[in-house]
Amino acid sequence: MNTKEFGKQGWTPDRLGNLSGKTYVITGTTSGTGYEAARILLSKGAKVVMLNRSAKKTEEVIATLKKELGNDIDVSFILMDLAEQASVRAAAAEVLEKVKRIDALLCNAAIAQVPKQKLTVDGFESQLGVNHYGHFTLQGLLFPLIEKSKGRIVTVGSMGYDMGIKTIKFDDMNWDKDYTPNDAYSQSKLAQIMSVYELQDRLEKAGKTDVKAYACHPGSSRTSLIATSGSLMMRIIFGLMKLSPLTQSAEKGAYPQLMCATEKDLDQKAFYGPTGRSNWIGPVGAHKLEPHAKDKAVAGKLWTVSEEATGVKWNF
Ligand SMILES: NC(=O)c1ccc[n+]([C@@H]2O[C@H](COP(=O)([O-])OP(=O)(O)OC[C@H]3O[C@@H](n4cnc5c(N)ncnc54)[C@H](OP(=O)(O)O)[C@@H]3O)[C@@H](O)[C@H]2O)c1
Repeated sequence: MNTKEFGKQGWTPDRLGNLSGKTYVITGTTSGTGYEAARILLSKGAKVVMLNRSAKKTEEVIATLKKELGNDIDVSFILMDLAEQASVRAAAAEVLEKVKRIDALLCNAAIAQVPKQKLTVDGFESQLGVNHYGHFTLQGLLFPLIEKSKGRIVTVGSMGYDMGIKTIKFDDMNWDKDYTPNDAYSQSKLAQIMSVYELQDRLEKAGKTDVKAYACHPGSSRTSLIATSGSLMMRIIFGLMKLSPLTQSAEKGAYPQLMCATEKDLDQKAFYGPTGRSNWIGPVGAHKLEPHAKDKAVAGKLWTVSEEATGVKWNF
């Protein structure tokens, strides 16, 4: 579908009909775009399964949502810390046990701009470990149910994919040399995006075309991202940026992932986000993706490296 068809305003949730009977599994709904995506899906009658690392924050968020939308909303929560592969595996097993279908898995959670190199318990650089390897494992383990449901995998990337070194540092994935917060974050978001297009190719080759995979990003949205994991300096810079017209609300930042999770006949090969200035703000639709994000040799190698690192085999 040509996204120009969505008109001057781009894609908005006005396009969503009644979503009762649909189930969406979302990572990172305690704040920001994940919270807004969950809120909008619930407001349309969908079932939402939240995968979060904080039970307390999730309870508070669910209480707020019930206050706003009513006690009848169909929302549930499974504890999952993307920074721990064992936690992701346990959460995936619980999803497979408790959830009957997945219309879309929204891989939304992330950390960003971690000031100093930090390793996860599994020994991965923290942003690569949480943003990429955590979601890689989750997607791989939930794939059978997504396939059974003819569902979608939606990855929330970032324009950061086009910053940093613009490729994967295979000889030093953890940035033991020359760690910078931005380079490591950019690599993690590039890895996430590359894996979407690599997955599409693999699905096509395996004849599993009932499952769709989409890459999108929220532009520059006023969320908790930098406050959660960034340095004091980054927090000050982003705090000032939030006051400028070059940022948009967290709600608008949720539109690209909502669109990718629900819109019919959406072109998988595209990259979705705000189409205005620098792709930070503006009407949501498809926009340019730089060729390095679809570098086939790098993407194929990254897939193999990711399977080896996580021990998750997709079997196709
Ligand atoms: N905001 C922007 O301008 C911007 C720009 C480009 C891309 N993005 C992308 O947009 C997505 C959403 O981010 P946001 O801006 O909405 O940030 P946010 O407000 O900080 O939300 C991030 C969510 O991820 C969760 N999370 C972090 N680490 C986790 C872990 N180890 N396990 C499970 N959940 C974890 C957070 O949970 P806690 O509450 O427990 O921390 C929170 O719910 C991310 O993929 C980000 O890379 C954002």
